[in-house]
Amino acid sequence: MNNRKKPETEISNPARRKLLAGGLAASGAAAALAIGGRQAAAAAPDPAITKIQDWNRYLGDGVDERPYGFPSEHEKEVVRRSVSWLTADPKSSVNFTPLHELDGIITPNGLCFERHHGGIADIDPAQHRLMINGMVDTPLVFTMEDLKRFPRENRVYFLECAANSGMEWRGAQLNGCQYTHGMVHNVMYTGVPLKHILNEAGIKSGGKWILPEGADASGMTRSIPLEKALDDCLVAFKMNGEALRPEQGYPVRLVVPGWEGNMWVKWLRRIEIGDQPWQMREETSKYTDLMEDGKARRFTWTMDVKSVITNPSPQAPITHGKGQTVVTGVAWSGHGKIKRVDVSIDGGRNWETARLDGPSLSKSLHRFYHDFNWDGSELLLQSRAIDEAGNIQPTKNELRAARGQNSIYHNNGIQTWHVKADGSAENVEVS
Ligand code: MTE
Ligand code: CO
Repeated sequence: MNNRKKPETEISNPARRKLLAGGLAASGAAAALAIGGRQAAAAAPDPAITKIQDWNRYLGDGVDERPYGFPSEHEKEVVRRSVSWLTADPKSSVNFTPLHELDGIITPNGLCFERHHGGIADIDPAQHRLMINGMVDTPLVFTMEDLKRFPRENRVYFLECAANSGMEWRGAQLNGCQYTHGMVHNVMYTGVPLKHILNEAGIKSGGKWILPEGADASGMTRSIPLEKALDDCLVAFKMNGEALRPEQGYPVRLVVPGWEGNMWVKWLRRIEIGDQPWQMREETSKYTDLMEDGKARRFTWTMDVKSVITNPSPQAPITHGKGQTVVTGVAWSGHGKIKRVDVSIDGGRNWETARLDGPSLSKSLHRFYHDFNWDGSELLLQSRAIDEAGNIQPTKNELRAARGQNSIYHNNGIQTWHVKADGSAENVEVS
């Protein structure tokens, strides 16, 4: 059985941060010894080689022990985490993807961050229906079985909450990329293109907007232009090959590629077609970006080009000492593919092109690496992504100059980690 416990959250409380830094300094010293100990095999008997380990001596679990598999007990720290002071109640809250523990581009299902406005709906798929109504020729109701008779497609997309990095608008806040950037996940969805379903109902002329609605206690709705609905939206029932997790909208959710996560309605039960947006009815009409002059940017749906270095980072210090070091991170853009990622070790004065590796898919996470020889000196690590549309990730100060500091949404500014000589890292800003 899986008895993983959720470890305590590390957050930005300054006292805690000092503690954390102290702890890291100690482990850094131990790491320095360890690297000194890397020597020819004959020099010192290493019990990891000379001792017969239990797992080598005794039979392991049989095939019936784990009908559904879990990660190794040694990976129990690799979990979603929340920040207790961020929201008043865990049922209308968020937790964060542990980006610093992952590699490649796919987020495992159990680690996809969650954002709910009314808790996780616990739905019996046999009792679930999807209704299409409003400005249609024939209002329709589908069972899950009906939905699975449409031609389906498999596509990999990132989902980023518009509030990702929102706490960082006014300065460096949260100490770890899990908290600063972890409201993103990247999943292969299996589903039916929404256009097939809408065409089945027949959109009346004048129909210009859809209003998807969730079956959860928040009954969340969000207006989406019909053009987008007919373009690349999916009605998805699988993630990374298996049924959607309850947290992610089981049995069915809307996938709105490249657009802010709020529009990806989970536990999808109804889509109404209308001739104008339903802004006034929406709990979520607050999804606008308040500017310095009191005006608000509206309809800011596309998630702009963004990247972050996941390792090293505050929760993932360098523990092996100086020498060959792998710097890695992820980049994504709602405008298409990532064309290039640059990495700076000196706070943005000089840039080198990072190595992109793994699939390069539109509106998906991309993995980048910067393999370099760390001389043990302090670093101001940054990454800057450029997408295929030519958008360049801005600095935080460029963003503030353009938008002010009132908003919490759409912060795609360049992140800086201050890596110290002991390998620990801290969230900072450079001017
Ligand atoms: N859909 C419903 N029905 N209820 C919700 O609370 N939250 C939205 C969106 N869809 C929400 C929802 C928000 S704000 C985001 S960022 C994404 O779902 C989060 O998706 P996830 O939980 O799969 O990460
Ligand atoms: Co959101």
